[in-house]
Amino acid sequence: MENWWKNSVVYQIYPRSFRDSDGDGIGDLKGITQKLDYLKLLGVDAIWMSPVFKSPNDDNGYDISDYRDIMDEFGTMEDMECLIAEAGKRGIRIIVDIVANHTSDEHKWFEEAKKSRENPYRDYYIFRDNVDGTVPNGLTSLFSGSAWEYQEDTDSYYLHVFSKKQPDLNYANPKVRQEIIDILNFWIDKGVGGFRLDVIENIGKEPDREIIINGPKLHDYVHEMYEQAFSRGDLMTVGECWGADEEKARLYTDPKRGELSMVFQFEHVTLDEVPGEGKWCLKKMELADLKRVFTKWQNAFHGDGWNTLFWNNHDLPRIVSRYGNDGAYRVESAKMLATLLHGMQGTPYIYQGEEIGMTNIQLPSIDDYEDIETLNMYKEKIGQGADSAELMRSIYAKSRDNARTPMQWSSKEHAGFTTGKPWFAINPNYATINVEDALEDEYSIFYYYKKLIALRKQKEIFVEGDYHLLLAEHPDVFAYVRTYNDQALLVICNFYDREPQISVQTELAGILGRQPGAGLPSCEILLSNYEDCGNPLDVLKLRPYEAILCELT
Ligand code: GLC
Repeated sequence: MENWWKNSVVYQIYPRSFRDSDGDGIGDLKGITQKLDYLKLLGVDAIWMSPVFKSPNDDNGYDISDYRDIMDEFGTMEDMECLIAEAGKRGIRIIVDIVANHTSDEHKWFEEAKKSRENPYRDYYIFRDNVDGTVPNGLTSLFSGSAWEYQEDTDSYYLHVFSKKQPDLNYANPKVRQEIIDILNFWIDKGVGGFRLDVIENIGKEPDREIIINGPKLHDYVHEMYEQAFSRGDLMTVGECWGADEEKARLYTDPKRGELSMVFQFEHVTLDEVPGEGKWCLKKMELADLKRVFTKWQNAFHGDGWNTLFWNNHDLPRIVSRYGNDGAYRVESAKMLATLLHGMQGTPYIYQGEEIGMTNIQLPSIDDYEDIETLNMYKEKIGQGADSAELMRSIYAKSRDNARTPMQWSSKEHAGFTTGKPWFAINPNYATINVEDALEDEYSIFYYYKKLIALRKQKEIFVEGDYHLLLAEHPDVFAYVRTYNDQALLVICNFYDREPQISVQTELAGILGRQPGAGLPSCEILLSNYEDCGNPLDVLKLRPYEAILCELT
């Protein structure tokens, strides 16, 4: 089916933490293959795997030293081919994660480039001379400190927007663009279903003008990838675009322009940070903001773009700890958050463990953390005199390591993730939060996700329906209705443990074009997170974190 990704659900795997098949404590490709039937049961159509290519792992695989080979710890090319084939047999496509903005400093291109100013690979990267004996300009790395690293052999600086082991590629050089296109085609030939394009918005950078994202040539470069690679098959492509507003998202995803299928924008998952201060400055998420942002994006496209729907990924804290309640109402709030998202228009993404309601972790000391962003930030801020306890509070709320603890398969040793020593801490709540238990409980979060996924496939309205916000001013409840031809879907989500009383009748009648009092449609509950939920068309008192998804006929 053309545009198969529109009614698909994608599952993201962080291979290092998913499933270890050989007891070395690190997840691997064979481990993923072993769990394909689990993912088939859940009902997903595609798996996006964080990078599995050769890498010294300064940033857990987002620093690639060979794009055509597999990281030793993850297995071999044969394992990869086997995974693609086995997934294919189950109707699941593999989406690979290509880091096109930078390579590892151990990539052979960089090893050549740094040798001399005349080296043929020199212009693959961005080298500059010092200015007044120091860095070329004030660009800073997203992983703390200057974005310029001194390179002694050639007495120059190279640009790294991320860690100093992730030198940025120079897209102004057509040879670089061709290399990346060749890599994309190599993987298309291997049979992948598409690509997730890491920080794609950075490739058009103009460092001398201190432009790092959304540079003037960005869309030309992405279009070139489309022309010479993506358009070769019925592929799904998704770009990571932190700086995309609706206009920019349309440039990437309008099918007439030939760039990407969709982009990740992050507005809804940055509402708990102080604007302009970055992710570590904590603030409570306001429901009014969440409604505003989702409503804006739901109404952003009219056939000229497509949304992604996600709460989690390997860079974000666990949603149930973040916008839900990971204490008494963990199960209810996880289901509520899933309902809100999966009722919307776009392609839903589920991050490993989300489907069993995995939570954030709090490790006792900074030394227990692994993530380079977290470690660099802590070191930098402590150097500036910050208070350690306060930094740990931010880390508990926001560190990427919250998402990276190993998948909790069972209540057995090491959560059934490995028979060896796990590479990273396992969340001690695996005794109660794990796949094995979830599969035995018909009311588990897992089966709730399974039903949501199945509904999206059964009913066209999930893909096609228009979106209308209801109860816009309500402080506790996020409700909306989707409409398509003469069909309507109603979604009601209570975001807190309070028990508000609501009535949506009058507003609904207006949206559905019926006279008040002229008789409302009848309502069939498709899914809800409490048994015996009331009729959403009556005046209704909601229970803590209650969610209702129903069809109006
Ligand atoms: C993206 C990845 C993140 C990585 C960074 C640099 O944001 O999702 O994990 O650290 O790019 O490649």
